[in-house]
Amino acid sequence: MSKDQEKNWSERSIELSKFYKGKERGLEAYLHIFGLTREDLDGKKVLDLGAGPTMQFSQDIKEANLDTSVAELSPDFIFDDIRHKALESNPSANAVVGLGQELPFASESFDSVFIVHVLDHVSYEIMTRLLSEALRVTKKGGRVYCGPVYSYIRADLAKDKNFKKFLNDTGIKLSQSDVPVDYGEERLYDKISGTHYDDMPYTKIVLEK
Ligand SMILES: C[S@@+](CC[C@H](N)C(=O)[O-])C[C@H]1O[C@@H](n2cnc3c(N)ncnc32)[C@H](O)[C@@H]1O
Repeated sequence: MSKDQEKNWSERSIELSKFYKGKERGLEAYLHIFGLTREDLDGKKVLDLGAGPTMQFSQDIKEANLDTSVAELSPDFIFDDIRHKALESNPSANAVVGLGQELPFASESFDSVFIVHVLDHVSYEIMTRLLSEALRVTKKGGRVYCGPVYSYIRADLAKDKNFKKFLNDTGIKLSQSDVPVDYGEERLYDKISGTHYDDMPYTKIVLEK
């Protein structure tokens, strides 16, 4: 990242972390969005790609006594105030600094990768790179769970010849469906981009390797 990009990212991250304070989704929300049970995660290695500022997901997993190893990845953990806040609320967490489009993990490291409320925050180009990276670090037979995302992204992905070719060439199955709306999520106004998302339905995308 250039110095200017880093400054923009820092400002954006700090704004977002203030905005998301106390609204971060945890284990139950993640499971509900994707129709999973706790048993689906037990004994698994999981990546939370785009972790929130308090790493609520791995905190809940620990409290639920699940035998699940979680890496919480966020580029925002590079900033001292965000990393300190994250580790204060979840001291034993495996907080990893990194970008989703350049994941610092070996191929086939995880059984499942969760990308929750992240894809709406990156450009289309970054999103496709991030998805192919998420698939690279997923074990054969594993899944990448993405969502909720606004349905225009689904429409773009369905039209994207390069992404379709990538899925065909790699034998990856993509399934999409609406996200349950009763999981306590508020409709968003993105203060940074100034976009209102109220009129767009949410969807989820599951990629199976
Ligand atoms: C709205 S928060 C979602 C946090 C959490 N997953 C949740 O559902 O509560 C969006 C997160 O996206 C992450 N993020 C944004 N751009 C990213 C990128 N290029 N790679 C990885 N994570 C990114 C940041 O960590 C930020 O906390």
